[in-house]
Amino acid sequence: MNLTPKQIVNELNRYIIGQEEAKKAVAIALRTRYRRSRLSDELKDEITPKNIIMKGPTGVGKTEIARRLAKLVKAPFLKVEATKYTEVGYVGRDVESMVRDLVEVSVRLVREEKMKEVEGKAKQVVDKRLCEVLLPIYRTSKPDTPDTILRSQILADLEAGRANEIMIEIEIEDTPRPIEVIPGTGAEIDLSGMLGGFFPRRKKRKKMSVRQAREILINEESGKLIDNDSVNSEAIKRAEQNGIIFIDEIDKIAGKSSTTGPDVSREGVQRDILPIVEGCTVSTKYGNIKTDYILFIAAGAFHVSKVEDLIPELQGRFPIIVELSPLTKQDFYNILTVPENALTKQYATLLKVDNVNLSFTEEALLAMAEIAEEMNESSENIGARRLHTIMELLLEDISYNAGGDHPIVDITIDKDFVLEKLGKSLKNRNLKKFII
Ligand SMILES: Nc1ncnc2c1ncn2[C@@H]1O[C@H](COP(=O)(O)OP(=O)(O)OP(=O)(O)O)[C@@H](O)[C@H]1O
Ligand SMILES: [Mg+2]
Repeated sequence: MNLTPKQIVNELNRYIIGQEEAKKAVAIALRTRYRRSRLSDELKDEITPKNIIMKGPTGVGKTEIARRLAKLVKAPFLKVEATKYTEVGYVGRDVESMVRDLVEVSVRLVREEKMKEVEGKAKQVVDKRLCEVLLPIYRTSKPDTPDTILRSQILADLEAGRANEIMIEIEIEDTPRPIEVIPGTGAEIDLSGMLGGFFPRRKKRKKMSVRQAREILINEESGKLIDNDSVNSEAIKRAEQNGIIFIDEIDKIAGKSSTTGPDVSREGVQRDILPIVEGCTVSTKYGNIKTDYILFIAAGAFHVSKVEDLIPELQGRFPIIVELSPLTKQDFYNILTVPENALTKQYATLLKVDNVNLSFTEEALLAMAEIAEEMNESSENIGARRLHTIMELLLEDISYNAGGDHPIVDITIDKDFVLEKLGKSLKNRNLKKFII
């Protein structure tokens, strides 16, 4: 995936409103990584990613930008809270675990991709098998039809989903659940994998629909078709070259340590993080990984502490500092309507399932945006998260009453409805403004 910075920003624009500076910074960081990949090994080793600090209040898109970026280029992505490592009782402050967790994400990502690649092949094998299971069932209703013809009919039915609801009994693998051995660390031992060499996997017979059987068997079969060793080594490579680690609440570990409380360890945590960001080798159960080229994006509100309060060595590793702006009324209006997954579209799609055609008038949307801004000012400023609260409040009754056997109904949310539903949540002083 080699999108230019402009293309990356364009893609991000589909989901995130405003915050141009931050979008630009992450786009450049990503492209720099691509440029680097085109260089000779010698030069490559000289160039490290330009890590980024995102500064900005809560709910304005910091996490969302990083997450979308990772998704866009299918990069393994991990989000951690820096404060996690200051928690009392956190054993050994194992900050390296963030790298191991990133590799886990990467393994899952690569595995899913490989599974997709072999799915067609697996489907063929599975349908052949299901065909034999279904043959006697088909034969009872068509005793005079030759098997060869029945078989091709079954295969066609399987493909078209016409056999989905037939109940059958099949043998499937009885996979034991992985056992978590070290509480809290997420480290797991996959017993089935470990013992796989000694014991054949247990099988058990189960009754289920063809639809379900097909899904399980295709999964099983795809698993057999992919090579775990190559998945693991590719996952390591992918995490190493394309991984993004998002360190949230970095501001909470900045600042002078006082002598009491968890503060003592703040600077300690920064020192622990430093080698990882600078580049070191971490061992994981899938092999060793170098952290030199992982892209780190740190984020924080920096209300109390400043970026300059971080230890200089760490600051040096985050040369790009971008500020995200607080969201305005106009931003809220856009967030409600523009993104492909905009809240108004989400709710409309959800309610459609229950035969409700939901729409909003322009004035209603403007009022919602204005109320969001107002509520953020008069109570806590929670950024775009306010819109979630507003939508829930607004649509609670409609959501509750929809469903059942009623015919298709059209519901249009207008300004009056918005004021009636949300008026109570606004202070009287503020409400007057909306009524006139
Ligand atoms: N600029 C934006 N455009 C579109 N949606 C946004 C924007 N800002 C925030 N949102 C939405 O608001 C929610 C919260 O955003 P996000 O998680 O990015 O906040 P944040 O800046 O990381 O805040 P925090 O500091 O609390 O972690 C998400 O559902 C996100 O989609
Ligand atoms: Mg966040």
